[in-house]
Amino acid sequence: MTKAPSLIDSHGRVLRDLRVSITDRCNFRCLYCLPETEAAQNFYRGRWANLPDSQPIAWKWQPKSKILSFEEIERVVRLAVSLGIQKVRLTGGEPLLRQNLEELVARIARIPGITDLALTTNGFLFPQKGPALRDAGLRRISFSMDSLDRANFQKITGRDGLEAVLQSIGLARELGMHPVKVNAVIIRGINDHEIEALAEFAREQDLAMRFIEFMPLDSARAWLKELVMPGREILQRLQARHTLRPAPRTNPSETAQRWSFADGRGELGLISPVSEPFCGHCNRLRLTADGKIRTCLFSVVEHDLRTRLRDGATDADLIAYLQSVVLQKEDRHHIGEPDFVSPERSMSCIGG
Ligand code: 5AD
Ligand code: SF4
Repeated sequence: MTKAPSLIDSHGRVLRDLRVSITDRCNFRCLYCLPETEAAQNFYRGRWANLPDSQPIAWKWQPKSKILSFEEIERVVRLAVSLGIQKVRLTGGEPLLRQNLEELVARIARIPGITDLALTTNGFLFPQKGPALRDAGLRRISFSMDSLDRANFQKITGRDGLEAVLQSIGLARELGMHPVKVNAVIIRGINDHEIEALAEFAREQDLAMRFIEFMPLDSARAWLKELVMPGREILQRLQARHTLRPAPRTNPSETAQRWSFADGRGELGLISPVSEPFCGHCNRLRLTADGKIRTCLFSVVEHDLRTRLRDGATDADLIAYLQSVVLQKEDRHHIGEPDFVSPERSMSCIGG
């Protein structure tokens, strides 16, 4: 039964999807997220003369005392579900860095009203954790994998991790997770030559590949629109190789335009937040690891739920607060416009 919606923003959008970042820490250093300064400098400076003049974000990990406990996360998720949230995705940083993650998964999987519980991970630690996560009730998983070439994978993520991630993808399928999705952020000049190979991998392995446009959420603050490969261009490249059929949209808030191969194996999706924004249908709300509510990936304000949680707020207080925050959800992002202001934190703190 669908819960009566009670998280409705001032633009009439009903929020159904909560993204929960459970740690800001990460064991990778992806160029588009949390690059090692030197690697990022070499990459960007070598290629582009007109670098943006903004300063890199001086990030440091949040102290443990500021990170929400499993009890606190579970409480927020329960309240959000009582307000109509149906879909929960655990993200990071890298969520598998959080000790006993399976305990949190089990707590959330038990909450009645959640129709969909998923996890986004870089996959590096999944071989150790996969079976426990499945047993705890996890059924859906997305891996980040931007390259099938060992050296390029290392260049993009800062780690020699391709083998481990491939092994994790295989394990997730063996464990019966469905769908197994793979996210690839495409950066022009870095991995756009691998689009065809990534698509072929999706078909061979019968999994869902998502090509994602590079968004200005990197800690280097070096995003440039020239580095974005528009989804339309990716699609043209893929259509030159394959006969693709549009997959019917199952939900209007879906971010991916999905395509299937003629033989029905595997699926491709284009996520084009920069070139074809889908803000009008956005039904997402975010909780950061340190207990801030974000109403948009690109919000420049965060709403402090943690203080309220720790200061003895009742469920009714928290519900009223969540509803008031949701009313402040931005109508859209302003990427590429003169008035665009980058958020103060990188994707690793916000959660994908
Ligand atoms: N632009 C687009 N996608 C990003 N991700 C991280 N940073 C960016 C960015 N700047 C993606 C990762 C991961 C998900 C959590 O978010 O690939 O799959
Ligand atoms: Fe880590 Fe994910 Fe950011 Fe890469 S994109 S640095 S794996 S949080």
